[in-house]
Amino acid sequence: MIQDLLTRLPKAELHLHLEGAIRPETAVELAVRNGVPLGAAPQDLYVYDDLAQFLAVYGRICQAVVTADDFRRITYEMLETCARSGARHVEFFISPHAHFGIPFATQFDGIRAGIAEARADFGLTALFAPGINRELGPAAAEEYLDACLAVRCEEMVGLGLDYNEAPFPPEPFAPVFARARAAGLQVSAHAGEGGPAAYVRGSLDRLGVRRIDHGYAVVQDPDLVARCREDGVLFTCCPTTTRYTTPWRDLTAADHPIRLMREAGLAVTINSDDPPFFGTTLAREYLIAHRDLGFSLRDLGDSILTGLASCWLPEGDKARLRVEWEAEIASILAEDQTTMQTVLVSR
Ligand code: ADE
Ligand code: ZN
Repeated sequence: MIQDLLTRLPKAELHLHLEGAIRPETAVELAVRNGVPLGAAPQDLYVYDDLAQFLAVYGRICQAVVTADDFRRITYEMLETCARSGARHVEFFISPHAHFGIPFATQFDGIRAGIAEARADFGLTALFAPGINRELGPAAAEEYLDACLAVRCEEMVGLGLDYNEAPFPPEPFAPVFARARAAGLQVSAHAGEGGPAAYVRGSLDRLGVRRIDHGYAVVQDPDLVARCREDGVLFTCCPTTTRYTTPWRDLTAADHPIRLMREAGLAVTINSDDPPFFGTTLAREYLIAHRDLGFSLRDLGDSILTGLASCWLPEGDKARLRVEWEAEIASILAEDQTTMQTVLVSR
């Protein structure tokens, strides 16, 4: 019952990686067809206990995706899975540099076709942002931005920063982010997943982002928490990912950062990151937020609307969706007995 209700809530998925959403059976099929050995069967391949190990497997799977039609297929399948979880709008990252030698134009053509098909079949919208691999350094990031801008399409609205944070702080990427912003791109940065609160602060101060992907380490810096609350910084959190890539492995712990971030009044959204890699779905992440992280249904409804308000759709679209979603969320939440009683008592 509760899972059904959570699935039906209209949602914006704001933190999802295209290549991290490839279905294992599709990865195997594409690898065989393209003659790219994955090196192990899925049950032995999808094994990792930290971010670096995960990224090594992610990199191998990326190489199995080669043709424009492969990109169309993985985009369509990812959006189909999102739609099944109640997503109505999806903003996703891509890692075009990780498909060695495949022209960015080929990749973008396939991704656009997948978005168009999914839009027609499932009625959802989708936008994307290439993610800079911070491990490759700022000079490579400048070339990467050029390559992306050269084949920019209307669905490419942003630029992200991802991969392993630990020895790669955000500050050296300030010039490339300035150039992206000047080119009219929206920006976000992964920070505070494996790196310290200082990387969240550095991303805000030097990269000009107002959206932090993950951000968990923020809870270690109360001044920064207060500042993010006042400035309405959006945190795109991914509960299950924390079990694999962060020190916070117990989702039910009283000091789990996503719980603390919500309690501190930060703008937190629930997302799925790399769902098949971490054995989850967007709807399941909502269940975990509700069951393990202390989000009431009302909190989840509010967080959906907060995410919508800060997402990268045009303002007019957001205003229209807000009216629709507010009504739908209210009607779905009213199905829940406890919520209904709370509403009646407070009248
Ligand atoms: N790329 C895909 N998933 C990621 C994550 N959780 N952190 C950093 N880079 C990623
Ligand atoms: Zn991510």
